Amino acid sequence: MSAFNNKVCLVTGGTSGIGRRVSERLWEDGAQVIVFGRDVNKGEQMANSLGRGCHFMPCDVADPEQIARAFKDIEDTYGRLDCAFNNAGITAQYASVADSCPDNWQQVININVNGTYHCLRHELGLMLKTGEGGAIVNTSSCAGVMPIGGQVAYVASKQAINAMTQVASIEYAEGAGAGRPIRVNAVAPGPILGGMNSNERLKASPKNTQRKIDVTAMKRFGTADEVANAVLWLLSEQSTYVTGIVMPIDGGYAAGKF
Ligand SMILES: NC(=O)c1ccc[n+]([C@@H]2O[C@H](COP(=O)([O-])OP(=O)(O)OC[C@H]3O[C@@H](n4cnc5c(N)ncnc54)[C@H](OP(=O)(O)O)[C@@H]3O)[C@@H](O)[C@H]2O)c1
Repeated sequence: MSAFNNKVCLVTGGTSGIGRRVSERLWEDGAQVIVFGRDVNKGEQMANSLGRGCHFMPCDVADPEQIARAFKDIEDTYGRLDCAFNNAGITAQYASVADSCPDNWQQVININVNGTYHCLRHELGLMLKTGEGGAIVNTSSCAGVMPIGGQVAYVASKQAINAMTQVASIEYAEGAGAGRPIRVNAVAPGPILGGMNSNERLKASPKNTQRKIDVTAMKRFGTADEVANAVLWLLSEQSTYVTGIVMPIDGGYAAGKF
């Protein structure tokens, strides 16, 4: 039997890059996949190409009311949630702290921090209601493990995601009441091809591209599949004694300075 047979799994930011690959892999493993994103064309195209078992729900995670409506829809349609991958996120404009733009700070915090927080709240609420436990993975970043300059909002947002992961993991590790445990972990990808590192972006700034390669011990970009391997493991029954970790998937970036 497939690992996620008939499990109801939510992927936020599932319309492109890492989130899209995780959605496809969950679907290939038998899950019923719900995808959140803002781009309705991309989302519907994706749901149509996968077909039965993939459900795109337009949802801007920066808007708590849209999130509340989408979760009501999930509850009405499926009555449960088994797994969630909170992956919707954006990078910050490149600038030192003094030169950074407060509007951009607010936008990054609204999507990366508040979006993850509100989704996490609803996911835990729904999982607690069924009492059958669950598994949640949040997307942090190698920059949330070892901060980088020029990205204050992004680094702060990813460190907040690490904190939310750890707090929620402690609170639900034993389950609540008669309910089964809910595990909460995070992945911290290094530079990954596609998505934020699309071919066009990499070609447009070769110096920056080389810098991203050089910060990894393996001297290469990772792939969305390499991140998906870790996410699916953390969501699966293979990792039942793992909760509260922020797992680097980064070609050795966080291993040390070299
Ligand atoms: N690629 C990397 O090298 C790398 C490294 C470390 C961490 N990460 C993290 O991995 C995650 C995915 O990155 P990616 O490279 O795969 O980027 P991407 O291709 O740009 O994907 C971002 C996804 O987030 C969604 N999204 C953005 N803002 C949203 C909002 N307000 N509401 C709902 N969905 C929203 C986008 O969908 P719509 O456009 O449809 O809204 C898209 O599906 C991010 O959290 C990022 O910080 C990436």
